[in-house]
Amino acid sequence: MTSSLSPGWRHRCPFCNWTEPDTDAIVYTCGSCGKNVEIEMVLSREIARRLKDSRIPGMDRWRPVLPIRPGTPAIPLLIGDTPLYDSAALAKDTGFSRVLVKDDGRLPSASFKDRASAVAILRAMNLGRKTIVAASTGNAAASLACLSAAVGLRALIFLPAAAPEAKIAQLLVFGATVFAVDGTYDDAFDLSVEATRTFGLFNRNTGLNPFTREGKKLCAYEIAMQMNWSVPDYVLIATGDGNIISGVAKGFFELKTLGLTRAVPRMIAAQSVKSNAIARALKTGTLKPVNATTVADSISVSLPRDGDIAIDCIRRSRGFAIEVSDREILSAIPYLARKAGVFAEPAAACAVAALRKAARSRLIPKRASVLCLISGNGLKDIKSAKSSVQKISKAIPVTRKTALQTLERIL
Ligand SMILES: Cc1ncc(COP(=O)(O)O)c(C=O)c1O
Ligand SMILES: [Zn+2]
Repeated sequence: MTSSLSPGWRHRCPFCNWTEPDTDAIVYTCGSCGKNVEIEMVLSREIARRLKDSRIPGMDRWRPVLPIRPGTPAIPLLIGDTPLYDSAALAKDTGFSRVLVKDDGRLPSASFKDRASAVAILRAMNLGRKTIVAASTGNAAASLACLSAAVGLRALIFLPAAAPEAKIAQLLVFGATVFAVDGTYDDAFDLSVEATRTFGLFNRNTGLNPFTREGKKLCAYEIAMQMNWSVPDYVLIATGDGNIISGVAKGFFELKTLGLTRAVPRMIAAQSVKSNAIARALKTGTLKPVNATTVADSISVSLPRDGDIAIDCIRRSRGFAIEVSDREILSAIPYLARKAGVFAEPAAACAVAALRKAARSRLIPKRASVLCLISGNGLKDIKSAKSSVQKISKAIPVTRKTALQTLERIL
């Protein structure tokens, strides 16, 4: 591997060890077996020391572990430093020794995907690209549109026409070129790949561009730092394509290699029973497409595009999957909001639904510390949020007189 490059890295296939050391090559899949590739970083004690001593805010603190050329300008938005709440109320209710809530709905475009878009954009800058393409269930697109606007790049987006209105509105507001595909996320994905090939574009797709995992891993670095260089026992992540869980797991593995932490948490894939390809593959040993129909649009994925790597890292971390129903997902929205004051979109609430199920069914021991990643903000999908409370509460239509009468009754 070249030593003149700092930080040092290369493309590597985790399945057959194929490598591509040319860091200017655009590599989406392995040149030998065709599966997804990873970025392999050179990690050292010196790097660990620099990370620990740094006081730089946001993602730029982690530059020594990013495959980005030194001197690449920073994105002028705060990407990272999201709150990590230690929720006494959730610990009490579930019985776990500690329940931590990492609120990534607080990132600039209101979802975790900003972490990945940021690194994909820095990579595009390194390659002199002015346009980035992405297919998305909505959040990756909104995030790419937001961050591209901040650095003056053009974002071309393919997404299902049925994506929640707020996500489509975000795209248009940030000035992206939007192709609303009459079909599923899987259709949008395939079309974006065809456009990438036909026009020689730079593609940010989840589970295709290995740089997305590099951004996602920074969430693990941030969690470890916020926990004073320790880690929770379990990390629950809503999973569709499997790129968030594989990215965050990569971060935890790297932290251990660097000697910054001692253990890797068990990585738990939270899935809807209506979009459970990864949970099934963990049971059967074969990754096969399902017919995804969950209400949690961000994790409605028939064929997980990063399934192989996700399954591998779940296994290596001694993790597993927890499947929940759509009803459990929706009821986790007001549950989390009322216990912890955090508003999650349905996909993000899936992690909380899995937490509740783990507590009920003892899938996770009560002595454990458990972290739920809140990967998207509740304002992203107001229709689902409203339906989540339809049966338990509604606004009371009042006049001045009836308002005062009602208050007299309930106070
Ligand atoms: C809010 C939210 N949660 C979870 C996920 C799932 O991530 P992945 O598809 O990488 O498993 C996504 C992906 O779109 C998302 O937007
Ligand atoms: Zn390979």
